[in-house]
Amino acid sequence: MIPQRPVSLRFTMLLMYAIALLPAGRAQDVRAVYQQHCASCHGPQLEGGQGGSLSDDVWTYGADDENITRIIREGAAGGNMPAFGTVLEPAQIRALVVYIREMGTRAAAQQTRFNQPTPTTVTQSEEHAFRLEVLTDELGVPWSIAFLPDGRMLVTEREGRLRIFADGKLQPEPIAGIPEVWARGQGGLLAVAVHPDYANNGWVYLAYSDPGADGTAMTAIVRGRIRDGRWVEQEDVFRIPAPLYKRGGVHFGCRLVFHDGYLFFTHGERGAPTDAQDLSRPNGKVHRLHDDGRVPADNPFVNTRGAFPSIWTYGNRNPQGLALRPGTTELWETEHGPRGGDELNLIQAGRNYGWPVITHGMNYNGTPVTDRTAQEGMEQPVIHWTPSIAVGDMAFYTGAAFPRWQGHLFVTALAAEELRRLVIENGRVAKQELVFKGIGRIRAIAEGPDGYLYFGLERPGRLVRLVPAE
Ligand code: HEC
Repeated sequence: MIPQRPVSLRFTMLLMYAIALLPAGRAQDVRAVYQQHCASCHGPQLEGGQGGSLSDDVWTYGADDENITRIIREGAAGGNMPAFGTVLEPAQIRALVVYIREMGTRAAAQQTRFNQPTPTTVTQSEEHAFRLEVLTDELGVPWSIAFLPDGRMLVTEREGRLRIFADGKLQPEPIAGIPEVWARGQGGLLAVAVHPDYANNGWVYLAYSDPGADGTAMTAIVRGRIRDGRWVEQEDVFRIPAPLYKRGGVHFGCRLVFHDGYLFFTHGERGAPTDAQDLSRPNGKVHRLHDDGRVPADNPFVNTRGAFPSIWTYGNRNPQGLALRPGTTELWETEHGPRGGDELNLIQAGRNYGWPVITHGMNYNGTPVTDRTAQEGMEQPVIHWTPSIAVGDMAFYTGAAFPRWQGHLFVTALAAEELRRLVIENGRVAKQELVFKGIGRIRAIAEGPDGYLYFGLERPGRLVRLVPAE
């Protein structure tokens, strides 16, 4: 049936009226915002037109986020670049800045050749030449690597297996008797760590997604000993009350670091952003316990009513790396931002790292989280990666095999498939090198007793290492 015109017209007018009443497009994808307001002058791909290119990394008014934000808000060039401060909300302008960074990085990547090491090539990086050796390609998702004093390597597979690599081979049988894990989404068997005094106490620590009731899961940590291929003498180190378990398959954490009798570990916010600001919940935090699981009496929130006593810092979104800087008491952490705003943080007792009140990123669907990148009482990252590289595990290098890398921080990336070398000076990142890119998502990094750098790569699940090729 053909609808009668008056009805159709009235319907259209109602629809237009409804659209006019919608709030100023906060829920709109940033790409659509760009196409609507900017593409006519800066080109559909940001390549430029009547206005200059926004993807060539050439900036008339300053390359930093603050200046780009200011130009969008206030306009420039006598109004040839219109002011959008009254048209767009601050959070939308923030999302546009993230989008401009994404498109700029994409344009640059098309013109750059990256190191892509293979087993048969020598790769020259700034300080060292190296080769890549593949030790095994028979793993699932290798989440974490730790070395025993005798040189054997422990590797977790997220699917729920603890493996041993020894004498140049992956041992066919996984360690028997480890806890049952909730292996779904980002959950499963996560970190493995060897106690610094393993030679005397034999403790190995495992962090994993522990299945709760009704499809819930949460991060738990146990320690145990490995004897004749079996996991034995297990003790709980961290296990939270069942009512705090959560549904959903994202952001479990969890990395483990020992220092001075303490165990530091990270716990992702489990896809519940506001929990990261809630001290009565363990998720979205970095924690500190004694290595046997007791809560230290001088933890920052032990005397705060209702607070989870093991909390060391809060406002942490999805921490994927944790490392102590050698020769110092500095604890460094990497965490995933949403879309943009991956962070490198210097973790200090009692501090608030801001998520989700402040962030340099936006939502995955291109809608803004907030326009706030900073706020009084909240920590700034030492650096942030915008667009996101999906920052992963990290390690400070201390070995002799690559002497000019000593003390440098190696940071891995999942989605961007990168290894980055960071030189830290006075709490700042003085230099950053992209060592290699494009051989797979890098989930795990560890320095071996031989001074080589070991990695767990995904799809296929491989263990590889960098060896010097000078
Ligand atoms: C009517 C055309 C027009 C529109 C629409 C427009 N711009 Fe511009 N824009 C310009 C011009 C022209 C300049 C260059 C001014 C100059 O070089 O002095 C500019 C400059 C800029 C700059 C500064 C670039 C630099 O080199 O520092 C940014 C950032 C920018 N625009 C972003 C945007 C964004 C984001 C939008 C959409 C919200 C937008 N512009 C919409 C014309 C436009």
